Amino acid sequence: MKDQSGDAHNIADLREIARRRLPKGLFEFVDRGSEDEVALRNNRSAFEKIKLKPRNLIDVSGRTQQVTLFGKQHKMPLIIAPTGSAGLMWHEGEIQLARAAAAAGIPCTLATGSMTAMEKVMEQAGGTLWFQLYMWPDRSLSHKLIERARVAGYEALVVTVDGAAPGNREYNLRNGFTIPFSFTRRNVTDVVTHPGWLLGVLAKYMLTTGMPRYENYPTELKNKITAAPMGRSMMRNDTLTWDDLRVLRKLWPHTLMVKGILHPQDAILAADCGADGIIVSNHGGRNLDSSPAPIDVLPEVADAVGNRITVLIDSGFRRGSDVVKALALGAKAVMVGRPTLYGTAAGGEAGAARAIGIFRDEINRVMALLGCRSIGELGLNSLILPESAGGHAAGNPKAALRLLDSARAAAES
Ligand SMILES: Cc1cc2nc3c(=O)[nH]c(=O)nc-3n(C[C@H](O)[C@H](O)[C@H](O)COP(=O)(O)O)c2cc1C
Repeated sequence: MKDQSGDAHNIADLREIARRRLPKGLFEFVDRGSEDEVALRNNRSAFEKIKLKPRNLIDVSGRTQQVTLFGKQHKMPLIIAPTGSAGLMWHEGEIQLARAAAAAGIPCTLATGSMTAMEKVMEQAGGTLWFQLYMWPDRSLSHKLIERARVAGYEALVVTVDGAAPGNREYNLRNGFTIPFSFTRRNVTDVVTHPGWLLGVLAKYMLTTGMPRYENYPTELKNKITAAPMGRSMMRNDTLTWDDLRVLRKLWPHTLMVKGILHPQDAILAADCGADGIIVSNHGGRNLDSSPAPIDVLPEVADAVGNRITVLIDSGFRRGSDVVKALALGAKAVMVGRPTLYGTAAGGEAGAARAIGIFRDEINRVMALLGCRSIGELGLNSLILPESAGGHAAGNPKAALRLLDSARAAAES
């Protein structure tokens, strides 16, 4: 397939290219949310309620997006979220995506459910790679998997905790898209009417490694998996508790993060269990449909843990200004899921690089227009918040203190 990402001026353009290229069932699997897609829409509209308050006549010519996460410097406050489906956007798309992340100097998170084996991604892409874990009912298999990730050289473990039950995504059932992929009467027309994807992605797998499947699964599970609608075949676990996290803390010697936190009490519990970071996330609006937009709960979650752990966020970020708003509200960096999947579908490594580049340019422009020279300068004094963002200083002493702190930092700089 040819790289078409050069035609894209923003993430919405990349999405449109992906929509044209991918079979409808696959595009919907990536693009849509759960049930009535309230959370999906709200993830976007929440950003519109937050305004940026610029300062002028500051020399911003030397501005930088560098951030330090868990003691390591990165070129931008952006991280590739785990999605497990980059390998269906492009042949071995996980490698393409991870290479783009490495070239951009940002971390990339490989999902348990990816189609390319973790060792191969490490070998062929390198860079800062994190591994995302879904726990299986048989904990010992999950523990073996994280040992595999440790041996392969993954620097951090991201444990996803918002999947006690699979999200209700009815379109996957209607579209008949399954993993391992299997031809059904329903999806065959969809696939043959997208010959670029059929020949450029599916046929390449079939001629080399066979039908795409979950390459990180242990043989015991791989053999047991029968084709299930995408998103329902992960064998998710509804018995996971904080005790499991304590065990993981003992087993995993490097950075440990918990993904899918929306409640301040859970943020505190994650810190108490020894996690180094959390990802405030509603899974991109794909699981609990009436969950809040992560950006709306970020201030109270960040206040709850203070400096104890690193707070990251994802869900709905499509513009550099969205990223800047989250950083000003206390996140250290932002994860993106769909934007780089659209990019990978539009042009493999070049397309993923285009998506990252769009964020880089947009963040750069917003920083200049805000009068901001470094990420550390961003704070509540750069924002005008609606009451619903939870960080309004009136009646919120912690937010008021943070506002004073950031005003003081701005005055001193
Ligand atoms: C197609 C797709 C597959 C996903 N698979 C996983 C997964 O395997 N594990 C996980 O923790 N999150 C998964 N997610 C959620 C993302 O990690 C992330 O939370 C979400 O995409 C962020 O929202 P955004 O897509 O609006 O950036 C997936 C998201 C998408 C779009």
